[in-house]
Parts: sequence; C-alpha cells; structure tokens
Amino acid sequence: MSARINPSLTVSRIAAQQGSVLRELRTASLRDAPYAFGETLADALLVDPASFDEPAALQATSPSVATFLLYTEGHPCGIVHAFIEERAECPDARAFVSALWVAPAVRHLRGGELLMNAASKWLAEQGASEVHAWIAEKNRNALRFYERLGFGPTGDRRAMPANEAEPEQLYVRHMQVNRDA
Ligand SMILES: CC(C)(COP(=O)(O)OP(=O)(O)OC[C@H]1O[C@@H](n2cnc3c(N)ncnc32)[C@H](O)[C@@H]1OP(=O)(O)O)[C@@H](O)C(=O)NCCC(=O)NCCS
Repeated sequence: MSARINPSLTVSRIAAQQGSVLRELRTASLRDAPYAFGETLADALLVDPASFDEPAALQATSPSVATFLLYTEGHPCGIVHAFIEERAECPDARAFVSALWVAPAVRHLRGGELLMNAASKWLAEQGASEVHAWIAEKNRNALRFYERLGFGPTGDRRAMPANEAEPEQLYVRHMQVNRDA
C-alpha cells in the first residue's frame, strides 16, 4: 500500500449545479461497496435523476449539511457527506460524516484522508468539537481507515438501515473547536 499523497488529488465542496455528479458518485459507491452504506443501489436508481439537484444545491450552501468531492485531474472520484444531526444552533447537536467513498482506481493515495480533513474542518467551523461516523462492523478496511485518523468506538451499536442483519458501530473523533469561524 502506498503512503504518499498524490498531488493530482484535490477536494472541494460540491457546487449547487452538481446534482448529476452527486448521483454519479452515489450510484458508483453503492455499486462498488454495497456493504458499506445505509442505502441500496436499487433505492438510488429508483429515484428521478433530477431529484439529486435539490440536495446538491442544499449541500453546496447549507450551514448544517455539506458534501465534499474528491477529484483526480478534474474528474470526480470520491465523496463524503458532513452534517450536523439536529439544528445547528442546538448545543447538543452531534456532527457526522457519512457516505464516504473513494473510487477503487485512486485508493491508498490519501484521497479518503483528504476528504475527511475537508469535512472535519468544515464541521469544526460550524462549531463541532467531535465528529461521529457509523461504520459497518464487517467493513474492516473502513474501521482501520477511521482508527488511523484518530477515531475510536463509542460503544453504540445498531442494525444497518439497509440491512438489519448487519450491525454497525458508532465511532467518534474529538477535535479542536475553531472559535474564529
Ligand atoms: C475507506 C476508503 C474511503 C479509504 O480511502 P483511501 O483513499 O484508499 O484511504 P487513504 O489512502 O486516505 O488511507 C489512509 C489510511 O487508512 C488506512 N486504510 C485505507 N484503506 C485501507 C485498507 N484497505 N486496509 C487497511 N487500511 C486501510 C491506512 O492506514 C491508510 O494509510 P496508509 O496508506 O499510510 O497505510 C476506501 O477504501 C473506500 O471508499 N472503501 C469503500 C467504501 C467504504 O468502506 N466507505 C466507508 C464507509 S463507513
């Protein structure tokens, strides 16, 4: 496994008009790694492609939900969602990352880490002091990935929304709050 950072990889927040890119990456991730997510490919394919336009516009500008996209030389190749669970102004609201995926062709080049850094930075700017993630117990690669980034288990477990036979665990990473944001 390579540990170098690939200079061709960049991350930026989704733009309002990128509904088709959101759909493309979401369906690609569900096709590639159905064991990892709380939704099925069939669910994603059932909905009208145009229905991704509204979430993209929201995720581009909202103070409580954002999507970050990974690019290799201008081509979208990865994604992560970041969101505040409740209303941003609620002091007990928990911050989450979800739907993290990096295309197989660009794995092990720190693209996942770049996405997580962008999502965590944005959540910290919204006032979050911790970042949470639900991870399928059988997704050993993801567990190792999150542990390497400083996440640890909270002890919370639940059935995966898309597959009740599969348990997932809640992981958390503590962060420094950005009080200048
Ligand atoms: C998990 C995932 C996002 C990692 O993306 P990536 O860009 O390959 O990860 P990075 O290159 O940033 O890896 C950073 C570190 O995570 C760990 N890691 C990543 N992939 C790993 C793997 N397959 N096995 C073990 N450790 C792994 C390593 O410690 C790695 O550091 P190293 O390269 O110095 O050893 C990617 O494998 C993926 O999309 N998997 C399918 C979807 C998925 O499981 N999503 C998570 C849902 S909770």
